[in-house]
Amino acid sequence: MTEQETYVFVCDSTSVESGSEAVFEINDREVLVVRSAEGELFAIEDNCPHANECISGGRVRNGFYACPHHGARFELSTGKSMTNLSTKPLICFDVREVDGKIEAIVPQKEKKKFIPGGAPPGFGPM
Ligand code: FES
Repeated sequence: MTEQETYVFVCDSTSVESGSEAVFEINDREVLVVRSAEGELFAIEDNCPHANECISGGRVRNGFYACPHHGARFELSTGKSMTNLSTKPLICFDVREVDGKIEAIVPQKEKKKFIPGGAPPGFGPM
């Protein structure tokens, strides 16, 4: 297990009761922790790939999460998009519960590299 794959503390278990969710900032990412009514725990990036809006505040039902903005639905265990609104999946994080604490593996967000004058080939002066 590399440093990138280490579980980090997210919150106490009581912070996300059954049928609720909460957003936490971890490694420069907004992580949405969702606990279904049945008690199953999920951690996803708080970003809907349809229009790059926060996805928190949506609805959980039968293992799926519906975005509050336009209703795109995603499978929580895999992030797979279940509607035509988004071809991209949600970003899912491994999550676990140990001794009353919720932990997740949340890799550091990659920073976009700035390349001065870096127009792709075919763009700009010839
Ligand atoms: S932003 Fe989520 S469905 Fe459009």
